[in-house]
Amino acid sequence: MPAISATAPGKIILCGEHAVVYGKPAIALPVIQVRTKTTILAKPAALSGKVQIIAPSINLDTDLTHLPEDHPLRKTIALVEQELHVNALPACEIRITTTVPLGAGFGSSASVTVSLARALSNFLGHPLPDSSINLITYEVEKIHHGTPSGIDNTVITYAAPILFQKGYPIKFLDVLNGFILVIADSASASSTAEMVEGVRERWQEDKAKYDQLFERIALVTTQVYEVLCKGNMANSGALLTENHHLLREIGVSTPILDQMVKAAIEAGASGAKLSGGGGGGNIIAVVSPGSVDRVSAALLSNGARNIIVTAISGKGDSTHE
Ligand code: MEV
Repeated sequence: MPAISATAPGKIILCGEHAVVYGKPAIALPVIQVRTKTTILAKPAALSGKVQIIAPSINLDTDLTHLPEDHPLRKTIALVEQELHVNALPACEIRITTTVPLGAGFGSSASVTVSLARALSNFLGHPLPDSSINLITYEVEKIHHGTPSGIDNTVITYAAPILFQKGYPIKFLDVLNGFILVIADSASASSTAEMVEGVRERWQEDKAKYDQLFERIALVTTQVYEVLCKGNMANSGALLTENHHLLREIGVSTPILDQMVKAAIEAGASGAKLSGGGGGGNIIAVVSPGSVDRVSAALLSNGARNIIVTAISGKGDSTHE
């Protein structure tokens, strides 16, 4: 039996993070330059039911039954089995490799779960639809992040730009004019769960202030949505900068993220912001084709460890990088 593989991309949040946990809209984009790949190889000669799981990025090489039941990888497998009414897996080796940086705001946990759930359901001969993969990944995101909004699993499952709001149908974005984003990794990993929890504590202490900040973030997100659908994001980066200032007010930025945002704008970006949970992770900057190199160089000399340049394609473009 040949090996079965499935992949999933990373993601970035264009705007609206944290407020989205409180029911506000947010916009997320897939990042296809980073990927997780799960490959499953049947081992007919192995002991019946022996499942070896190998994930070099987290130094894991073990029998599945040695993982705790609530380990995200074991949980993913259990949820796929449950969904497909399968009681036991055939003996196999599951190998998960990823180029998605961990703890950097690229949705590494959701990327791993989507690729594993897809590969496993394909391996079992019953490919699950995206809606099921999304639900399974959301359940596993709760183990990783406590009270996730559901945006990471959704954008990574569907691998398309989305406007996401809890309790509403997913809105796939029809971007009118393409634009370029420089994504810069700040070299400091952070825990989304801790950042979300920190915001929750501050919100509980001063609900009026935080509700108003979430409202203002929602307003920016709505404006970004309008620009994406009807205008040109390349000239509207200032909206992202405004979102960054609001994220700073809710306490999720850091001096290094602020410095990188400032450096990107000074080097010619039309706007920039932290992206994802904050406290580390990455910033994104909207740039024109002519300023990609200058902005990237400025970010690298202001704390960025790694740069990804991604082109978000518009309706009129013929390519999607
Ligand atoms: C993480 O990518 C985005 C946050 O808003 C958390 C969430 O929505 O679950 C910080």
